[in-house]
Amino acid sequence: MGDTPVHVPTRGDRRQRVGVGVRNVPDHGPSTMDASVYRDPVRYELERTRVLTSHWLLAGRSEQVEGVGDWITYEGHGESVVITRQPDGHLAAFHNVCRHRGPAFVTEMSGCAARRFTCPYHGWVYDTEGRLVGVPEREDFDPDHLAAAGPARVAADEWGGWVWINMAGPDHAVPLIEAIGAEIADDLGAFRMEDMVLHEVLEFDVPVNYKAVVDGFNEIYHVTELHQVPPEFTKAARCASFHIVGDNYMCFVPKPEHLAELESPDYDHHRYAICHYVVFPNTVFNCNPGHIQVFQPIPVAVDRTRFLCWEIIYPGNPDDPEYQRYLKNTMAHWAGLKMVVGQDISIYEQMARTKNSSAFTTQILSERECKIAHFHENMDRKTRVDPAQRAIT
Ligand code: FES
Ligand SMILES: [Fe+2]
Repeated sequence: MGDTPVHVPTRGDRRQRVGVGVRNVPDHGPSTMDASVYRDPVRYELERTRVLTSHWLLAGRSEQVEGVGDWITYEGHGESVVITRQPDGHLAAFHNVCRHRGPAFVTEMSGCAARRFTCPYHGWVYDTEGRLVGVPEREDFDPDHLAAAGPARVAADEWGGWVWINMAGPDHAVPLIEAIGAEIADDLGAFRMEDMVLHEVLEFDVPVNYKAVVDGFNEIYHVTELHQVPPEFTKAARCASFHIVGDNYMCFVPKPEHLAELESPDYDHHRYAICHYVVFPNTVFNCNPGHIQVFQPIPVAVDRTRFLCWEIIYPGNPDDPEYQRYLKNTMAHWAGLKMVVGQDISIYEQMARTKNSSAFTTQILSERECKIAHFHENMDRKTRVDPAQRAIT
């Protein structure tokens, strides 16, 4: 590791996203919304089978699968997927479901330098691309049945130093970069997440629907009351801009100490704002100039969520005093953010008490909560079916 200074993201000649001449709130307006979206099992099943299996989801950091045969596992909404690094450098991903009688055949959640995976039940053997390569007592099976037992492939790709998967499979998934979108790829790209390293992952078991967690990151209205931010922050937050870009969202919250600069057409949101990006359905990037949090609510059931909070930082030489200063400041800020996450979790606990209440029928949303409204409208569009078909089979 050399003494290269820590990367400082800057807007450069990118488009201005907040401040003079930029509209703060999209033309959506206040709205109301049916509360059943958080508890309807039919809707959850439609989201599971139509959205979560056809959109790009975060599976981990590229650095977690650096070497050939290294693997990580993604688990959520009933799926288990293994992602492995191949000798040519690309990632392969496959459903971790033994083709014999169905259990997960990769037993560890992650590991290094695998060459084969052996199902612990009867010993069927798979290679690191999920191909069946060995069957004990093969002569007892119909060769046609075994020939048809091809790997259940999942698309895998990398962007921003993150591993993404799409269960539509390599032949049907839209390209990852298209799903992220050129605007977000460019603006978020300034942070160079691919050069950053994983510092910590927190995991919480949250007793509410995953969309309620996404919603909490699609508005900043709650920061004054729940996070008890100082009045200057509330004032700055009123100047934030919200953007809807296709399926995805951006939001820029000016930092109070740089509010005066907001008047300048050269305002650098990468330096002076908290930059926030949501990739549909459930990947949330919260970017501070020096470090980034990724919030990932993974559905487990209609009213239960595995909530991961990732903290990534810039690497550097630990002996360099400049880097030591960077680390000290970043860690102090991260410690504060962990408290903020704890406050968010405390609200999910209050929501859990009323999630099935007969009195919780409608939500009333302000125009600054338009990303929430848009998110649910989008989800509704993607899961809509003929009412006659609305039944779980
Ligand atoms: S279930 Fe995997 S080998 Fe039988
Ligand atoms: Fe919050």
